Amino acid sequence: MRAVVIDEFNTDPRVRKLPSPDAGDGEIVVDVDYSSVNGMDLFTCNGMVQHMMPYQFPITLGRDFAGTVSAVGAGVSGLAVGDPVFGMLVTAHLHGGTFAERASVPAYCAAKRPHGLDPEDAGALGLAGGAARASVDALGLCPGETVLICGATGGVGAFAIQMAKRRGATVVATARPEQADFVERFGADEIVDYSSDLAGELRALHPDGVDCIIHLAGDGIALADLIVPGGRLVSTLGVGPEAVAGHDVRATPVMTIPSLGLLEGLANEVVQGDLRVPITHRYSLDEAAQAIRDFGASALGKLGVTV
Ligand SMILES: NC(=O)c1ccc[n+]([C@@H]2O[C@H](COP(=O)([O-])OP(=O)(O)OC[C@H]3O[C@@H](n4cnc5c(N)ncnc54)[C@H](OP(=O)(O)O)[C@@H]3O)[C@@H](O)[C@H]2O)c1
Repeated sequence: MRAVVIDEFNTDPRVRKLPSPDAGDGEIVVDVDYSSVNGMDLFTCNGMVQHMMPYQFPITLGRDFAGTVSAVGAGVSGLAVGDPVFGMLVTAHLHGGTFAERASVPAYCAAKRPHGLDPEDAGALGLAGGAARASVDALGLCPGETVLICGATGGVGAFAIQMAKRRGATVVATARPEQADFVERFGADEIVDYSSDLAGELRALHPDGVDCIIHLAGDGIALADLIVPGGRLVSTLGVGPEAVAGHDVRATPVMTIPSLGLLEGLANEVVQGDLRVPITHRYSLDEAAQAIRDFGASALGKLGVTV
């Protein structure tokens, strides 16, 4: 099968032929149709993962997937060959990936794709949608609160804007002037330009600070100054209580942990029309290296990969 792999860090990924994977105990094999780029793909290519988890070359890139089950391993229940599925490949050891014609995936990382969920959308939903869901839930956002989403222009950010709006929050989104339309389309109420004086622009809108912040990009510690005393910050980039010591702010690092409940919940939100998947560009498997480069340079929303 064809897969997008790296054989060492800091090299361009390339398409290579690899043996098709088997379904081990507790795993399924998915014939992958769609995926999308995530920060994890960039961190894998540039070697940042070396310090985060064990790995084995060749590493196949790609975490998200949507496709069809083609094999089921021992001990898997609730999924059968031929089922349409989607999800995110999150494992403790980095080797396999979903920028590939077939991927073996622990069954807990997959859910059946409901009829109303477009397969391309499903392939860009799991990891970023899960991170947004984890962030908004960890904040415990209440109606009427004001939240700054720092990194609102990315995939996680575009999901988080929509989820925060549905909680009844006022959303302040970071965007450069030319990106304002994008965040407004997903429901942002106010915009601050992160390429100039973010703190000054935020203070002009909210002199006492915002109730809470979702930190997806930029300097999370500096952001703590922009929160009202007793406010909250959640971070997908690992900013926790020690980092904001000295501020009267509760900081919580969040991780996306795959589960059937999380995936079914995200799928339902999309099917019910409460959540839009923010795909802005589409790439083929052969163009996946370019997709990762584009993601690292500057990208709006989700970059989809069609396998
Ligand atoms: N912990 C977890 O489980 C988990 C799960 C998913 C994602 N993540 C992480 O969460 C982060 C966001 O993910 P993503 O997929 O949304 O990434 P992304 O698509 O790269 O989004 C980040 C966005 O922030 C913008 N940005 C860059 N610098 C900024 C700054 N100083 N202030 C405000 N905005 C800035 C970027 O725009 P420009 O590049 O155009 O400036 C980009 O649009 C990534 O670091 C990712 O690795 C963590």
